[in-house]
Amino acid sequence: MMTAVITGAGRGIGRAVALRLAEEGYDLALSARTLAQVEETARLCRQKGVHATAASMDVAEQAQVEEWAAEVLAEFGTIKVLINNAGVFLDRTVLETEPSEWDRVMDVNVRGAYLCTRAFAPSIIEAGGGHIINMSSTSGKKGYARQGAYCASKYALLGLTKVLAMELRDQGVHVSAICPGGVDTELVRGHLDRPDWLQPEDIAETVAFLLRLPPRAAVDEVVMRRFTAEPY
Ligand SMILES: NC(=O)c1ccc[n+]([C@@H]2O[C@H](COP(=O)([O-])OP(=O)(O)OC[C@H]3O[C@@H](n4cnc5c(N)ncnc54)[C@H](OP(=O)(O)O)[C@@H]3O)[C@@H](O)[C@H]2O)c1
Repeated sequence: MMTAVITGAGRGIGRAVALRLAEEGYDLALSARTLAQVEETARLCRQKGVHATAASMDVAEQAQVEEWAAEVLAEFGTIKVLINNAGVFLDRTVLETEPSEWDRVMDVNVRGAYLCTRAFAPSIIEAGGGHIINMSSTSGKKGYARQGAYCASKYALLGLTKVLAMELRDQGVHVSAICPGGVDTELVRGHLDRPDWLQPEDIAETVAFLLRLPPRAAVDEVVMRRFTAEPY
């Protein structure tokens, strides 16, 4: 049985990805800070017949990431897939943004992906290769007013994705990014108003597609916009 690790799996896109990968037969190691939400995701995944664990942790905190990784590896042996999905949004102009707010967005959205990759990539290599998928955004492709810290973090995550794709290629690890436009989740509800949101399941379908590709094929990034939005 193959194991996938998903951060930010308590709700929204992370929960939809977890449920989709459960349907594909993956065992799942799930985390977010709010334990009750991750436990609910794990329960829904178990109903689909797979093994799923839930943990409360903050991806920006090195000790918490490492402790969780040790637990996951002890429980599952090796893992094949890491989805760096945990993320936070900030709706502020750059000049309104406090340095502490800037740091938090960068810490969760960029440092978190770095720390989780550092903690789990050795296991994926040990398993003979696999996938790392980073949840960037269309805000990693284009500037949006009032999204300075968020755009900077999602551009940074794309940069990290390209570097990892080169550094881990020889060990059989596929590293790619998904850049969704507006998705109907708690992250952006109340901040953005979109008439035709993408749904979390649409992003989950893209994750399943990336994992299904033959190992000879590499997709660097999938930009998935709302149908009525401008192409990127
Ligand atoms: N919604 C969109 O329009 C959209 C578009 C493009 C990209 N994205 C990206 O997609 C990813 C998922 O977003 P979403 O829309 O599904 O948001 P969401 O519904 O708010 O879910 C975010 C998940 O991440 C967890 N999380 C947040 N901070 C964390 C931290 N420091 N450590 C561990 N877990 C943390 C949250 O749980 P806790 O708060 O309990 O920790 C939650 O489970 C994010 O990276 C986001 O930037 C979203």
